[in-house]
Parts: sequence; C-alpha cells; structure tokens
Amino acid sequence: MTAAWASSSGNGLRHEPIRPLNSIVVDAEKVALGERLFHETRLSADQSISCAHCHILSEGGADGLPTSFGIGGNKGVMNSPTVYNAALNIAQFWDGRAKTLEDQIDGPLHAEAEMGSNWPAVITLLHADKSYKTAFDKLYDEGISEQSVKNAIAEFERSLITLNSRFDQYLLGDERAINDEEKKGYALFKGFGCVACHQGENVGGNLYQSMGVMADYFASYDHEGKHDYGRFNVTGKVTDIHRFKVPSLRMVTLTAPYFHDGKAKTLEDAIRDMGKYQLGLSISDAEIASIIAFLATLRGEHHKLDRGN
Ligand code: HEC
Ligand code: HEC
Repeated sequence: MTAAWASSSGNGLRHEPIRPLNSIVVDAEKVALGERLFHETRLSADQSISCAHCHILSEGGADGLPTSFGIGGNKGVMNSPTVYNAALNIAQFWDGRAKTLEDQIDGPLHAEAEMGSNWPAVITLLHADKSYKTAFDKLYDEGISEQSVKNAIAEFERSLITLNSRFDQYLLGDERAINDEEKKGYALFKGFGCVACHQGENVGGNLYQSMGVMADYFASYDHEGKHDYGRFNVTGKVTDIHRFKVPSLRMVTLTAPYFHDGKAKTLEDAIRDMGKYQLGLSISDAEIASIIAFLATLRGEHHKLDRGN
C-alpha cells in the first residue's frame, strides 16, 4: 500500500502495518487477586459461573460456542471474544460500549444471560471471606469495593498479553521465524486489503468498520436483533448501523466460531465471508489455507495458555 508499509531489507524492526506486542506494566499482587476473581463463581447470582466460564484461558480466552450461555443455562446473543490482549483494544465489546476494562465488568456482572448479579450482593459475599478481606485491605485503601474489584480483575486482564509470537519475531528482524507458506499468506493478507481493517499491535481492535462493506451480510437473516446494529446502539448514528469493532486476529486460530453472531463455524468460512462481504472478492481454498498459515503465526505465548485455566 503506502511506501511505509514495505518491508525493510536490513535487520531490526520491519515497517509493516502490523506491530509487535509489548507487555503492559502491572502490579503482580493485583494481578494475582484479579486472577482469583476472574475464576470466582460468587460473582454470579447462583454462584455457578465465573468470567472463566466464557473466557477459557487455556483455549484461547473465548468459549468455543456460537453464543455464550450464563446462569440457569440462559443463552446470550453474542459470541464471546477472547480476553487475551483485550487491554489493547480502543474500547470493549463488539460495539465498543465500554471505554475501559474496568467499565466492561458491569456488563457480564448484571446481564441475565451471564452472571445476573449486582454489586451489593457481590461485595457482601466477598466480605464474608476473610482471605479476600485481607488481600483487598493490603492492596487498596478502601478495601473491598466495586472499584477495587473491577481494578483487580482489569489488572489481571492487562497481564494477558501474548508476547513472542513467531510473527512478532519476524517483525523484529528474524527472517526465518516464519516459513514461505506463512509469508505467502501474509502477502495475500496485505494484497487483498485485510490490513486496512486488521492492523496495528493487536491486528484489529483499533477501528470500527461496517460488517458488509461490499455486500449485505444481514440479507440472509430471518430475524435481525438490536445487537446486530453494532455501534449504532452506542452513538445513535444511522451510519453506525452494522458497524463493529474490528476484532483482533492475534488468537484467532483458537477461537472458533467467529463473528459477533458466531455464525461462521470455521476460520475458512470466516475468511471466505470476509472476502465476499468486506472486499467483494472470491478467495480460493488455496489462498485461504495460506492466510490461515499466516494467522497461526500470530499466536503468542502466555503461561495461562499453556498451563490451563
Ligand atoms: C456468560 C458468558 C460470559 C461471562 C460469564 C463473561 N463474559 Fe465476557 N464476554 C462474553 C460475551 C458474549 C462478550 C461479547 C458481548 C458483546 O460484545 O456484547 C464478552 C465480552 C468481554 C470483553 C470484551 C472483549 C473485547 O474484545 O471486546 C471482556 C474484556 C470480557 N468479556 C471480560 C469478562 C470478565 C472480566 C468477566 C467476569 C466479570 C466476563 N467477561 C464474564 C461472555 C461472557
Ligand atoms: C472493511 C474492514 C475489514 C476488512 C477489509 C476485513 N475485515 Fe475481517 N473483520 C472486520 C469486522 C468488522 C469483523 C467483525 C464482523 C462481525 O463480527 O460481524 C471482522 C471479522 C473477522 C474475522 C473473525 C474474527 C473473530 O474473532 O470473530 C476474521 C477471521 C477476519 N475478519 C479475517 C479477515 C481477513 C482474512 C480479511 C481479508 C481477506 C479481512 N478480515 C478483511 C473488518 C474487516
């Protein structure tokens, strides 16, 4: 595309539309407390469901379902995105309705199809547990509060950066970190124009874009819900109907099914649909295979990924 996007020939950081990940400085004790809260079922009304129920850390940080279900088997309408690298997104949720990771937590905590609880109930339950009281009193002046619970969970999420992917090694100058097939996939990814939307550190997460730039994605829907309006629900602007936050592709080989509605079962389907609806292109099976080979090189490392939930 622009000259700045061309590969550099020497060693060192390549000038590419995708940038390598950097870790975020976090407080280790708050991260440990947040990790415990992330797995805490007492955050839900019937004390059966934790954040990890829908964001399984050993499986890429999503739940593998088209749409998630919460307490009492209540089924939601949205696909669970990964929590890995979410700290890098411009905002949280498919429509970006939460500005920060802290704000995002109000969503699942209250949603009937998720945890169906409320802050007074959660604070009471945590207060009753001495180990929480001690941990919070040590780290936060106010002890256990809505703000401190949110801050600890968000701090844990800020630690979920997947460093050292093979693609980042390549960006940092290691020519052999990715093979020829993977390079071909990256060339296609740039050549087709995927990078116009999926770019930057998180290979997405920094723009809002229409779902259906070149063809009407929602034409085949028999029933379109409010949640399919995307960004419009936040801004009220007609031009934001069907616009979504472009998802990060860093963990994408692990988080099928795809799209806000979970309707693309496989990565092959999602890429084919992206060609059709976003670019007006028919992408061949061989090209899709190369793009998948490239996308797999974006998966970085994190001890939670390797050692389980
Ligand atoms: C019942 C399943 C469920 C539970 C429980 C749940 N989530 Fe989610 N999470 C989702 C779904 C579905 C979305 C997308 C919803 C939307 O965009 O409207 C989401 C979105 C997110 C996002 C935004 C990611 C992005 O890229 O936009 C973060 C961060 C997140 N959840 C963290 C949490 C935390 C922290 C908890 C616990 C307090 C939690 N979730 C509990 C299903 C769940
Ligand atoms: C015009 C912007 C745009 C372009 C160009 C684009 N995408 Fe997307 N992509 C999006 C948006 C927006 C979504 C979310 C759509 C939804 O959920 O309804 C998305 C979703 C995806 C997903 C699903 C991710 C997930 O977690 O659900 C994949 C995979 C993907 N894109 C790959 C590609 C590839 C490969 C290309 C090039 C062939 C491409 N995209 C081109 C904007 C774009």
